[in-house]
Amino acid sequence: MTLIDDLNQIAQAAQADLDQEGVDLEQVRVAYLGKKGKITQVLKSMKDLSVDEKKAVGQVGNQVREAIQTSLDEKKEAQAAAALNAKLAAETIDVTLPGTKPKLGNRHVLQQIMDEIEGHFLGLGYQVIDDPVDSPEVETDEYNFERENLPKDHPARDMQDTFYITPEILLRTQTSPVQSRALEKHDFSKGPLKMIAPGKVYRRDTDDATHSHQFHQVEGLVVGKNITMADLKGTLLSIMQELFGEKHQIRLRPSYFPFTEPSVEVDVSWDEVTEDTKPEDIRWIEVLGAGMTHPNVLKMDGVDPEEYSAFAFGLGPDRFAMLKYGVEDIRQFYLNDVRFLDQFNKRGN
Ligand code: DAH
Repeated sequence: MTLIDDLNQIAQAAQADLDQEGVDLEQVRVAYLGKKGKITQVLKSMKDLSVDEKKAVGQVGNQVREAIQTSLDEKKEAQAAAALNAKLAAETIDVTLPGTKPKLGNRHVLQQIMDEIEGHFLGLGYQVIDDPVDSPEVETDEYNFERENLPKDHPARDMQDTFYITPEILLRTQTSPVQSRALEKHDFSKGPLKMIAPGKVYRRDTDDATHSHQFHQVEGLVVGKNITMADLKGTLLSIMQELFGEKHQIRLRPSYFPFTEPSVEVDVSWDEVTEDTKPEDIRWIEVLGAGMTHPNVLKMDGVDPEEYSAFAFGLGPDRFAMLKYGVEDIRQFYLNDVRFLDQFNKRGN
């Protein structure tokens, strides 16, 4: 029965081959089960055997063939599974890794200051006028200058040259025209007018560290009965202490604006002022203009200056931001460099 022994040996050899790591299954199949494979060779050499012997050898041959085929199939499945596992392991996503945080924007530093100013005046019962209908950036000469007591030949116009669309239509140089627009609409039977108007203004200036052809102002106006300079001073002190801190003081110096009489320039103390501070030691910085609204302006807006009085002020958020944060170049606010703007990111993201 040597042929049966041969077949059993072939079976063992095939198994040994298949057990080898990284075995090429197709090669094994061809070598053992192929037309010229080892099993076929054995079966070919049984032509001299008796019928019974042939039957016996044939049977073993079939068993061995099936066994090898089964092993081949198993191996094939195992190899596919191993390949899949290797692929999965290589592509593993670590769900515990922190993700990439999307970067959220934050309010521009100038907007933050304007929000702070708005919040303060809302608390004092003012209305905020900042819509393009009642506070347009494209203004008429009439509202921007004439109604502010600056007739066409007025020398103070020189300081506020601007961009003209037509000789009568221009980009506003100040938020003061919002005063007239608000006064015209105001119904005094409902009480005094208390308003602020934050917004953009334009000047025909060459941009440098302290000038920008476009910057911001917050206009303020209060019109009512018995409004006095004391009301103005108290109001300005409250907003300056809101912006710079409670221990800061203000100083009013006489000045000139065509639309106020008297007019003042307002300084805020650079340092905190306590009971022990000597007045001569206080360092003052100029921050805004203000005054009691000129009777002519009230008249032009249809308000009787005998019955009503008013104060007005103009705040400069750009200047406040520069002072508050030690920014030396106003152009920084408009360059949109995120590295600069991120310094004022209150959200901390
Ligand atoms: N409009 C002035 C300017 O742009 C600022 C200003 C000063 C506004 C005094 C006022 C004010 O309302 O009373 O230079």
